Amino acid sequence: METKLLTQHYDKPEYQSLKGYQKLGGYEALKKAFSMKPQDIITEVKNAGLRGRGGAGFSTGMKWSFLPNNNEPRYLLCNADEGEPGTFKDRVMMERAPHQLIEGMIISAFAINSKKSYIYIRGEYMAPIKIVEKAIREVYDAGLLGKNILGSGFDHDMDVYRGAGAYIVGEETGLISSLEGKKGQPKLKPPFPAVQGYLKKPTIVNNVETLATVPWIITNGASEYKKYGTEKSPGTKLFSVSGNINKPGVYEVPLGIPFKDFLQNECGGMKPGYELKALIPGGSSCPVLTRDEALKSTMDYECMSQLGSMLGSGGVIIIDDKQCMVDLLNILMNFYHHESCGQCTPCREGTGWMNKITTSLLTKNGKLEDISLLHKIASHMLGTTICALSDAAAMPVMSFVTKFRDEFEYYAKEKRSKVKGDVHYAQAHH
Ligand SMILES: Cc1cc2nc3c(=O)[nH]c(=O)nc-3n(C[C@H](O)[C@H](O)[C@H](O)COP(=O)(O)O)c2cc1C
Ligand code: SF4
Repeated sequence: METKLLTQHYDKPEYQSLKGYQKLGGYEALKKAFSMKPQDIITEVKNAGLRGRGGAGFSTGMKWSFLPNNNEPRYLLCNADEGEPGTFKDRVMMERAPHQLIEGMIISAFAINSKKSYIYIRGEYMAPIKIVEKAIREVYDAGLLGKNILGSGFDHDMDVYRGAGAYIVGEETGLISSLEGKKGQPKLKPPFPAVQGYLKKPTIVNNVETLATVPWIITNGASEYKKYGTEKSPGTKLFSVSGNINKPGVYEVPLGIPFKDFLQNECGGMKPGYELKALIPGGSSCPVLTRDEALKSTMDYECMSQLGSMLGSGGVIIIDDKQCMVDLLNILMNFYHHESCGQCTPCREGTGWMNKITTSLLTKNGKLEDISLLHKIASHMLGTTICALSDAAAMPVMSFVTKFRDEFEYYAKEKRSKVKGDVHYAQAHH
């Protein structure tokens, strides 16, 4: 069921270079885009129904059309921070096909009339940073960036900016603060970046995968794109899959395929001796699904939301019967507590308490009342903060303690894991 619209040539090493990419049809979409009106490119992307692949799944064409109709300079920012636990598809895209992203960015920049773009890459991604920087140099040398690109009259410059390891700069306004040279803290919305973003100018922030999809849409057209996927979730999506499965990795499949088939076909099924227990369908911020929910789900935005979860960034985390849910939740809480930027009280204090309470359960100091307390703290963190990190930390907690309450109660009463038995916390976590 793998459907390789974007990843068709990912196994060819030469695809990384400008020459190799061009040989396989690269930069033809850019030529076509220059023969179109910018507004028609926006309409094509809108008609294709492309939804942002960074997490929220918002319509890309719609976001672009929110830019004010004025002559102010505007910026295009590619979000390559990829900090969501369970997600690693942007790394693969940048390593295997840097020019697909760059071509998508030049077309998108032309569509929104932006003369400057940045690719904000997480600092730990040393290999992708080098590969993308090299690709940008090749593109400048070939006259595909800079002044009057391909005689179109359109000028555009592109740079790479390295993050410094904070998850919160993946949030678009945190990313903008960081790029402005400030502490990478999110800002209140509105104003939305499309109206007032980088340096207070209109700014579009899009994920790597979103931008890398644009050349395919321009080459083949919106109606062709809509032949894949579902009506409301058109096209294909790259999923990063981890867990005790036979073939972990990154797979491009049409949106809407049954998870059950995906697990069996692409992932090669569970490893021998492991049973599926639960699923985090779109990265660690998405509520967990039980085995039954997972097996009846399809991998698209609507189905995941009907099941009370999200497709998010497509970070599929497969949880097997040998994993302890209390332990897993503690790992997540440790992460969110560490990554909360601290501006908002519910998030700063809430993530701290949820980390402390899950740790106290694991260190045999937990009480039964702690389970309801965890749920209560999480419920106070929803919708009350500057950015969605608070919700992202709270939602997994609520789903874990609701759906796997037996494991939490067992830990509180018996002072050991229902699944793993007596585990020494310090040994397991340090
Ligand atoms: C805490 C937090 C972390 C985020 N991290 C990322 C990230 O690493 N990469 C990403 O593309 N979007 C991330 N997002 C979503 C961005 O804010 C933004 O919606 C996205 O980059 C928009 O691009 P898209 O419309 O192409 O999806 C994050 C959001 C939040 C709340
Ligand atoms: S919700 Fe958390 S991460 Fe987001 S701005 Fe507030 S304190 Fe910072």
